[in-house]
Amino acid sequence: MAGVEAGYFVRALELRSGAELRIKQCDTGDVGCVVWDAALVLAKYLETSSFYRDGLHTFTGKSVVELGSGTGLVGLMASVLGAHVTVTDLEDMQELLNINISDNKHLVTGSIDAKVLKWGESVKDLPPDPDYILVADCIYYEQSLEPLLRTMKELAGKNTCIICCYEERTMGNNPEIEIRFFKLLQTDFEIEEIPLDKHDEEYKSEDIHILQIKRK
Ligand SMILES: C[S@@+](CC[C@H](N)C(=O)[O-])C[C@H]1O[C@@H](n2cnc3c(N)ncnc32)[C@H](O)[C@@H]1O
Repeated sequence: MAGVEAGYFVRALELRSGAELRIKQCDTGDVGCVVWDAALVLAKYLETSSFYRDGLHTFTGKSVVELGSGTGLVGLMASVLGAHVTVTDLEDMQELLNINISDNKHLVTGSIDAKVLKWGESVKDLPPDPDYILVADCIYYEQSLEPLLRTMKELAGKNTCIICCYEERTMGNNPEIEIRFFKLLQTDFEIEEIPLDKHDEEYKSEDIHILQIKRK
């Protein structure tokens, strides 16, 4: 069947160049094993004209850390656009991350590697003060909010730009989780929402938000 390779199913994402990122997902495993809509929206936003100056992408040669990378789509896109990227997630996600890095390495113009990072734990193995931190669909359970914020705070320097994309969900306690996250976030960070008309024309949705976040 098209798109299915032994034990995996592939999410292909066409790039501006016409090439395709091919991301393996698996249907057994935790939430990180599939590409979430917020990752698609963020990955395609990174390709929009807002990021180009004189034909050069603003990620060229810049350091990028992605948190809760899951399959690695967003980090891979950043590395295709010329950034030096570290994708991070829990130990269990490292195999899938490395498979996707290896499958797409022919498209990478910067560099990319995967590291274990559990939110709230030491960030000493990661590049300090990265130019960008990318976060897609990581605001979804209560116990992770404070550790995630601690990691963002420890990792971000005063010039780091955090780009966070999340899907607004109305089910269960998701609304309360979002409210709590943004309340805590505002203590140390300034938040600016990217208007919908700046998102990719095709990969956008009223309930998926992109925020640009900087340390106060
Ligand atoms: C909903 S998935 C989103 C994955 C990917 N960013 C995307 O949008 O497709 C959330 C990700 O956060 C990771 N995650 C959850 N709790 C974590 C923690 N405490 N520390 C590090 N990563 C965590 C999960 O393993 C998963 O890959």
